Amino acid sequence: MNKLINWVDERLPVVDAWNKHLAKYYAPKNFNVWYFFGSLAMLVLVNQLVTGIWLTMSYNPSAEGAFASVEYIMRDVEWGWLLRYLHSTGASAFFVVVYLHMFRGLMYGSYQKPRELIWIFGMLIYLVLMAEAFMGYLLPWGQMSYWGAQVIVNLFGAIPVIGDDLSLWIRGDYLISGITLNRFFALHVVALPIVLLGLVVLHILALHEVGSNNPDGIDIKKNKDENGIPKDGIPFHPYYTVHDLLGVAVFFFVFFLVLFFFPEMGGLFLEKPNFEPANPLKTPDHIAPVWYFTPFYAMLRAVTVDLFGLDAKFWGVVVMGAAIAILFVLPWLDRSPVRSIRYKGWLSKIALAIFAVSFVILGYLGIVPATEGRTMVAQILTTFYFLYFILMPFYTRMEKTKPVPERVTG
Ligand code: HEM
Repeated sequence: MNKLINWVDERLPVVDAWNKHLAKYYAPKNFNVWYFFGSLAMLVLVNQLVTGIWLTMSYNPSAEGAFASVEYIMRDVEWGWLLRYLHSTGASAFFVVVYLHMFRGLMYGSYQKPRELIWIFGMLIYLVLMAEAFMGYLLPWGQMSYWGAQVIVNLFGAIPVIGDDLSLWIRGDYLISGITLNRFFALHVVALPIVLLGLVVLHILALHEVGSNNPDGIDIKKNKDENGIPKDGIPFHPYYTVHDLLGVAVFFFVFFLVLFFFPEMGGLFLEKPNFEPANPLKTPDHIAPVWYFTPFYAMLRAVTVDLFGLDAKFWGVVVMGAAIAILFVLPWLDRSPVRSIRYKGWLSKIALAIFAVSFVILGYLGIVPATEGRTMVAQILTTFYFLYFILMPFYTRMEKTKPVPERVTG
């Protein structure tokens, strides 16, 4: 075995890579539960890739055959129902995990210098993940697949001058059709997964270049022993590989509980109209995207005024785009001398709490039909969402921070 490893190592530095990224990658010893979600995101990614490949073996990417092929997978293909639910519940699990992973970043200031690039790669992953999920949802060719895609692609039509041509170009037809399904299939199963994998590699490489942050936001590289090893660091392998297995066990417990007993989650993970084949002549009573898009959908609907000769729909798209774009510049909005929320002042704590609650309520408002009252609440919460970022350069500088300890705490 050693001979084989040496033979390979002389030709490809596998031992170096193993040491650099695992056995001699010193991670802070105070990681808490919030640090499980990075490895869980990788686990869910692998699940999506593997189950996706197997689904593709029995799926038929045509307007005539798609819906029936999904039913065929559910009823006739050996273990097909499990593969399909692993993939559809897996998509929601992916977003749960990624949202918690991002929230950890917000709490502990993991986006701050020198980890800006890790954050930017993370945001690119998030964007691609949204595109991936959106295109995947068209594939079963159910009523919500069809009409959801119709609504979202039509949004591009709100862009002045080029809008109509752009949405025509995306659809490849005057309405969502088999042509759209074919291209979404190609992007969903080939192009975007490759981009996603590439970005995840860059995300991890950027992380391992500067080292992990931790719940105290302390730079563990400042305190090294005589061998140059951070005093508050422990080798990722075997300590965190084993530690992360606990996260995997708990995750599997919850994931399989949902998968076996509530795979559609009452219409939240697979919406009810999607059990009817797509019908271009019949619009469902109420069109809403899947839950992980609904905070942004609520922001889109919250914009109701026409401005500067452009209609509300256009400004809604602008607000929705800005809500995502502003996350990219977060590393430059936070001017706090400390990283972790543990040592930031009250203003940061209150701002983060209001932001998180607003995001969750917006998610709810995006699921339910709009009423006048709900639209007003969505308008207020959208404002809170943006204020969190816009005011950040001010409140992070104004507030009194707590002294950060020399060494990590518990
Ligand atoms: C496919 C999706 C993703 C995968 C597989 C992934 C994977 C990972 C892994 C394994 C880590 C190290 C372990 C940890 O700190 O939890 C990490 C760290 C990090 N990720 Fe991600 N990630 C993903 C998406 C994102 C997104 C969407 C963001 C934010 C926009 C993000 C931001 C970060 C940050 C800031 C760190 C450093 C955290 C720290 O050191 O405190 N990641 N990621």
